[in-house]
Parts: sequence; C-alpha cells; structure tokens
Amino acid sequence: MPEDVVFVTEKMLLRAGFVLAWEEGLKVIPDGEITVEDGIVSYLGPRTGRSQEGFERVIEKENSLVMPGLVNAHTHAAMTLFRGYADDMPLQEWLNDKIWPLEAKLDKKDIYWGTLLAICEMIRGGTTCFADMYFHMEEVAEACSKSGIRASLAWGLIGLDMIKGMAGLKESKSLTRNWHNADRGRITVMLGPHAPYTCPPKYLRKVIDLAAELDVPMHIHLAETAVEVQECRAEHGKTPVELMNDLGLFDYKVLAAHCVHLSPTEIEILATKGAAVAHNPGSNLKLGSGIAPLWELLQKGALVSLGTDGAASNNNLDMIEELRLSALLPKGINCDPTALPAEDALKMATINGFQSLFLEKGLGSLQAGTAADLVMINLKKPHYFPLHNPLSHIVYSAAAADVEMVMVGGRVLFENGELKTIDEEKVFFEVRQRSVRLLD
Ligand code: NI
Repeated sequence: MPEDVVFVTEKMLLRAGFVLAWEEGLKVIPDGEITVEDGIVSYLGPRTGRSQEGFERVIEKENSLVMPGLVNAHTHAAMTLFRGYADDMPLQEWLNDKIWPLEAKLDKKDIYWGTLLAICEMIRGGTTCFADMYFHMEEVAEACSKSGIRASLAWGLIGLDMIKGMAGLKESKSLTRNWHNADRGRITVMLGPHAPYTCPPKYLRKVIDLAAELDVPMHIHLAETAVEVQECRAEHGKTPVELMNDLGLFDYKVLAAHCVHLSPTEIEILATKGAAVAHNPGSNLKLGSGIAPLWELLQKGALVSLGTDGAASNNNLDMIEELRLSALLPKGINCDPTALPAEDALKMATINGFQSLFLEKGLGSLQAGTAADLVMINLKKPHYFPLHNPLSHIVYSAAAADVEMVMVGGRVLFENGELKTIDEEKVFFEVRQRSVRLLD
C-alpha cells in the first residue's frame, strides 16, 4: 500500500450566516458555528461566545452558508479528456463509434491528468466525494490521494471476452489490496461490472463472488436506455433489473447508476433490496436516454443519490446543476410542483451520496463526531437576495461559482479562488497536450 497521505489538519473555528446539516431532517442554523479538530466536527450549532484563542484557523463570514459537501455518486472522471468531442448522438453509437475507439488510445498518465482535471472542477463546484468507474484506477487513486478529495473507485469490468474479464478481476483485486480504506478511509474501492450488456451472467457471477470475498460494494450501470432493456429481454427473457436480481447481485451492496427504464415491479425490487440508485439527470437528458422515475423511486423508499456521469456526456461535473435538475424534472413530468421538495433534492446530493457509496455511517451529516467534509457558499450575490429561505436558494438559485471554500476531512482544498493541493496550470497544460495527441 502506498504510504498514507496524512494531511496536517488545523484546529478550526468556522462561523457563518447559515449552517445546513442533517440530524433526523435538515437542520438550518442561522448564525451558526462549527469547530473542527483532527479533521472531525467537534461542535456544530448556534454561535457560542467561545474565544478564538487556541484555534489555528478562524473563518468568520456572515454572508456565507456552510453545508455538507456534495457527492457525485456516478462519474468517469478521466472522461473530461473527451469533453465536447462527440455530442448529440445516441448512447450506443456514441460509445461504439466515438468513445471506445478513443479510450483504447488512453495511457496511464492520460487517465491521471484527466482525473485531476475532473477533481479540479469537482472541488471548485463543492463536490467533496465521488464514485468513479474507469480503468488504470491506480492512477485515479493516486490523483485522489494527492488532491485530498474523498473517492470510491471501481475498475470498470467488461466480461464479453472472458480472458480480458478475468484480467479486470485481477486488477480489481490489486486495487482493493493497495487502496481500499487508504488515506484514513478517504479512498475506498468497489468492483465495477460495467453493465448487464457488457457482463454476461457467467461473468457477473464471478464478479459477485469476488465482491463477497473482498467485502467491497459493486458499482454498475443499469437500465440506462430502452434499447438495453429490449435487448436484455430478447436475450434473457427478463429486464436488466430482474436479471440482476435473479443473479443475486442485490444480495450485496450495489450502487446502480441511471435506472432510467424501470417498471413498478423493478422499482419495488431496488427499494426492498436496498440497492443504491445514482440518478444522472444531465447525462440521461443529453444522451436522450430518458428520465428516471425518481419520484416513484423515492416514494417507494429507495436510496437515491445524484451523479454527473462522465464529462463526455454531460458535459460538466457540476453537482449544483444536477441538484436543480433533480428537483425540477419530477415536477415537470408529473405536472406537480410538490413532487420532490428542495430538501429531498439536497438530501440526494449530500448525505444519500455518502450512504450510496457505503461509507461510514453519519458521513456527510456534519454532526459532531463526523468527518469535516463541508463547503462554504458565498451568499453575497444578487441571486441570493432577499434571503427568505437559504435551502430554497441552494437548490433553485445557486451556481457552482458561488462555492468559496471546500474542506475534506478537515483539510481546506479550495479557498479564495485557489485550489490548495493541485497545480491547476500544470493540469491545463497536460490535458491540452494529451487531448491533441488522442485526437490525432
Ligand atoms: Ni456512466
């Protein structure tokens, strides 16, 4: 295992105009205060009269709001390299003709720099944690480790060719050995069976067995397009969700991305089996895949989080945009403005995200005793005035550019417009060079 990157964290005192946190429901604390010691929230509540003495860093901003960090529960970080390369195409054609041929040209260092670019964008937009599925994941882990972001990483497994599929399992094993729970648990590992249409049942059983053996969750694309469902029915006589259920996938910890095309029975299966669903409204809209039955999933009690998917199909990694889309789409589809209230949307983007990645309980709640993964939003902008309701503003009015400070595990990763752990200019340079070579 690489030597743990144990960041020095300071004893901090934060005071802000508002603090949002989770405790049973959403807690909105005006004039709030947070103290952080050893990377852990030691106090969260109304402002106290405590002295600033003894704190290594004090941040006091009456025009700001502190809230839990956003979780991007499904992405392929290094696909930032293909941002804008192929747009306005259906998923299968886009993958077969554009993305997969280009991916075949990627080397390890491309993945490293593409991932770092994604991390720059995510941190700047208030994302403190993400679930990634791609390949050369040791490079991804290295980028996460250096940047200080929290991440759960899966080597994307494709089992159409059993020899390649088995090699992927070997890579996953080694990734788990080297990185699972690394950096004080900041980096974790999942197995990443890509999708039912790229992982035949025989191979999926091997993946499930390995997940059980290694005791790690699985991250899979599921029921993303109508074509996927049609083809699965034609080949197996059942839908992707039914097939996965029969294979026993949901008897283990599973993060299922997309879940766009679901019958009421399948919604029931996902909810009762406790599968975590990562909803990716931006990517689903852009690829014309459809709109997931989010409201129905939530009403059945399914655990739903939000993701951007890769930057080649979104085309950004802006979780505030996904947050807003997730709150608006159910209202429009159901012709019901009460469908998916703001609080439910924020929950999906924050605490549900941590739960969907099967991380330690309480993470993302910002309660005392949990890791200090938080973001500070600058409210002194026209679109926050008047400040009737800070929760409403975050969901319906905020922009990624309003994020002014980001902290993961008590370490400040972004402040005053500057990334503290990443040389952004170097990232831009590397990505520019590499994108030219890839498209050559
Ligand atoms: Ni995806």
